[in-house]
Amino acid sequence: MTNKLEPIERRKRRDPEIKVWDRFVRVHHWLLVLAFATAYLEYKKFPLHPYAGYLISILITARIVWGFVSKGAARFSAFSYRPDEMLAYCRDALAGKASYYYSHNPMGAAMVYALLATLFVTCLLGLLSYSASQQLGPFGALIPDTWEDKLIGAHTLGGHLLAILVACHLGGVIWAAWLHRENYVLAMLTGLRRIPRAIPLPPGAKHPEKPGTAPAFIRTLVVWLNFKRPFVGTLLLMLLIICLLVLPVIHFLVGINKMLPAY
Ligand code: HEM
Ligand code: HEM
Repeated sequence: MTNKLEPIERRKRRDPEIKVWDRFVRVHHWLLVLAFATAYLEYKKFPLHPYAGYLISILITARIVWGFVSKGAARFSAFSYRPDEMLAYCRDALAGKASYYYSHNPMGAAMVYALLATLFVTCLLGLLSYSASQQLGPFGALIPDTWEDKLIGAHTLGGHLLAILVACHLGGVIWAAWLHRENYVLAMLTGLRRIPRAIPLPPGAKHPEKPGTAPAFIRTLVVWLNFKRPFVGTLLLMLLIICLLVLPVIHFLVGINKMLPAY
């Protein structure tokens, strides 16, 4: 769903906030962030590395199913675009005036598909490597050990490619925050996005009749993070999530690594 190109001034308006990301998408995303950071930053820690990889494999499979069975912005059909729409969006975005979308915008959608596909293939290669090298994991001893070097090589390549994609993903989120004057990280936490009234909403979604009933200090914080300073708010939230959530969780998991049974 899109509307016409909007000037910067319109992006600064007090548009109503509506529920766009369902709970599955939000919980899924932050679990994926934690599992990916653990698998990538602690790839030498076994069995923690395969366990983080199993979690990613389950999450990716579940997200693919959710993309077909869910309703609203999470459905793949809500963020599938023709190549000419993608090109038009890139052109307009580079000129600083991109159209507004209810779900992922065309560039964000391309990144989401690239991440999901690369995560899927990398995990599969990891599972096969684990079977070839350790005879462990769901494939057990099914994979001949003569494949080990090639599989680990391809898996490692996938892992580093993912790190590059994640860096581009974060760059894209920051750029979109600047372009649309909206805090997308906050939206991934609360599910709420600032949707201009002019945007046609999909069935089931509606603009709120009256403002939410959250406590005053939360409202003040949200207004600051999403309306007053959406760009600074995006950078701030990203930093807080990395320092106060991702790094401490990895530290904890590395601490219990030795207690985990190898599988
Ligand atoms: C997206 C998820 C994953 C990422 C980003 C990732 C990343 C990596 C990286 C960067 C390496 C380093 C290779 C090196 O330079 O030594 C590696 C090695 C490895 N990974 Fe993964 N991995 C993931 C999932 C998995 C899964 C699901 C498994 C299997 C259960 C797995 C099993 C292995 C094995 C067996 C090695 C080889 C370790 C060695 O003997 O050198 N990985 N992975
Ligand atoms: C601190 C780090 C991260 C932040 C702040 C972040 C933020 C975001 C935001 C704001 C969105 C929504 C974009 C939109 O509205 O179009 C998003 C979507 C997404 N991100 Fe991240 N991200 C982070 C790390 C990662 C990592 C490490 C991965 C995977 C390896 C990842 C994979 C995804 C995927 C697959 C989506 C699509 C969500 C869906 O439709 O299910 N993100 N991220």
